[in-house]
Parts: sequence; C-alpha cells; structure tokens
Amino acid sequence: MKNKINSMDKTKILIVCLGNICRSPLAEGVLRSKLPLDSFEVDSAGTANYHIGDAPDSRSIASGKKHGVDISMLRGRQFTAYDFSVFDFIFVMDKSNYQNVIRLAQNDHDLRKISFLADALGEMKKSEVPDPYYGKEADFEKVYQLINTACDQIAQKLISNLL
Ligand code: 4NP
Repeated sequence: MKNKINSMDKTKILIVCLGNICRSPLAEGVLRSKLPLDSFEVDSAGTANYHIGDAPDSRSIASGKKHGVDISMLRGRQFTAYDFSVFDFIFVMDKSNYQNVIRLAQNDHDLRKISFLADALGEMKKSEVPDPYYGKEADFEKVYQLINTACDQIAQKLISNLL
C-alpha cells in the first residue's frame, strides 16, 4: 500500500484487543508516536462491549506515561464490521481477538487486512501479546515492551511501504 499525501486519504491502522482498555489503547498511543501523522491514522477497538466509553486501565495509562506516551484521553469502543471499510490494516493481540474479528469479515479483502501485532516480533517468537488485565504492574511492563518492539518494526515497514 502506498503512503498517501492527501490528508483525506491517509493509511489507517486499527489495533484490536478484547476490552480496549489495556493492550490496544497502549499500542495505539505507541504506534501513533512512531508514525508521521500527515500520512497515517491510528485507532483502537475491543471485540467486547464491556468498556465502551471508558478510559484506559490506570495501569496502562501509567505504563504509557512511564515511557512518554499519554493515552489518558483515549476512550473504549467496540470493533464492528464497518471497521473493515475504514481501515487498511487491522492488528490483533491474541488468537481470541483474531477469531472474533474474522467472524465479522465479509470477504477475502477484509480477511487480508488482519494480522497479529506480535508477528512483527520476528525472532522473539511470540505469537500473542498476552492479556495483562488480571496481572500485576510487571505484566503491563512486559506488554509495553512487546508492543513497543512490534510497533518499531510495523512503523518502519509502513513508512517504507513494505506492508
Ligand atoms: P484488553 O484487556 O483486552 O487488553 O483491554 C482486558 C480488559 C478488560 C477485560 C479483559 C481484558 N475484561 O474482562 O473486562
């Protein structure tokens, strides 16, 4: 996909987890911080409806803040089939997110937009960014590190038109 110059026609990236309060808002903030926003838009959503309108989990906000990324203004929303018509790339965090997202795909074009964020970790051989919701602060730091490393790779590829 070519980078787009017209701001009406930016490359749009959506990051999806279950609740849209822990992993995906953190990844949204981190990826946005690595991309030129005249060419790219980044959003996030959850497959569940538990946290619509909610701020990110305080532990995710703290983790982002520690690393210079402010996600406190983000609010939860639910992934819908309409998102396939808006976004060029959809990154999911785990296999359960993947199953829930593909269920709403209507054709192969939709399906081709979906990939695992952790695929960008390459040699770290992680296929998923694990759900930290029932974990401790250290689990949120691990999630941040996975997200940050994956987003470095994804941003480089997006900027070089390699995705
Ligand atoms: P997330 O984490 O999918 O990374 O936002 C979760 C947030 C909330 C819940 C589960 C996971 N929950 O069950 O409410």
